[in-house]
Amino acid sequence: MMLDTQPNPAIAPPEHFVSVKGLCKSFGNAVLYDNFNLDLASNQLVSVFGPNGCGKSTLINMISGLTPFDSGEILIHDKPIRRARIGYVFQNYREAMLPWLSAFDNIAYPLRVKGVPEAECRDRVETLIQTFNIQLDLKRYPYSFSGGQQQLISIMRALVADPEVLFLDEPFSALDFETTLFVRDKLQEIFETTKIPMFMVVHNLEEAVFLADTVLLLSKRPTRLVEMVSFTAPRPRTLDTLSSPEFIETSRHCLDIFRQEMRK
Ligand SMILES: Nc1ncnc2c1ncn2[C@@H]1O[C@H](COP(=O)(O)OP(=O)(O)O)[C@@H](O)[C@H]1O
Ligand SMILES: [Mg+2]
Repeated sequence: MMLDTQPNPAIAPPEHFVSVKGLCKSFGNAVLYDNFNLDLASNQLVSVFGPNGCGKSTLINMISGLTPFDSGEILIHDKPIRRARIGYVFQNYREAMLPWLSAFDNIAYPLRVKGVPEAECRDRVETLIQTFNIQLDLKRYPYSFSGGQQQLISIMRALVADPEVLFLDEPFSALDFETTLFVRDKLQEIFETTKIPMFMVVHNLEEAVFLADTVLLLSKRPTRLVEMVSFTAPRPRTLDTLSSPEFIETSRHCLDIFRQEMRK
């Protein structure tokens, strides 16, 4: 029998990891989104930047299925949200950890909720912490770790159930500068190793550019996508990236666009 060497379009990988069509969302009289559209090409790290209160958290929460929307359609890898495996890292690690569980049990929690057998839970957590070289005593409780360590634990928890997309809402905003550098490097390592597409809200423009393949710049409400800016510096991005002409130019361009938007 001859093997069929023609690519089968039925199994072509999805072109987009997120597709938003005609999305509408209001809170009372406040219109956040009115016919909002967005397509994010697969395998990217996308960061989102926009004015305070424009609806970044609401957007990431609607796309990850945590917040309902009024109308429109959201697809993850061409599927409805409820059929997608989603990882989510919350802005405030203090509120996101379950304080009565050890760090290990916090990471294993999503697997246990799904009813994965105990031996497999343990294996999956062990493999994960070895892969990313997490040298923490995971028998300890969340409060006994630093903020950066807790955020790292919550990233591990988001990864444990093998998500096809990872959402992060300002993952560095509750961290001090030094810890931010550490967690940021780890996140980049995770992205390079797993290639899981990431959609990350970031509250600092340079931070948004630094890790991203694509930066989404959002307007004031009702929120529009002002521009999708691509940033193609090689990975891993390092301190040298910060002084590269490409980084400076892209950050500058994003700042110009943001300023023009704020004047409107
Ligand atoms: N559950 C809610 N009920 C009412 N208003 C909300 C709710 N969540 C957010 N908002 C309002 O929607 C706007 C956008 O919020 P949010 O998505 O948190 O903005 P961002 O993350 O961009 O700062 C804000 O004005 C906020 O007060
Ligand atoms: Mg927010």
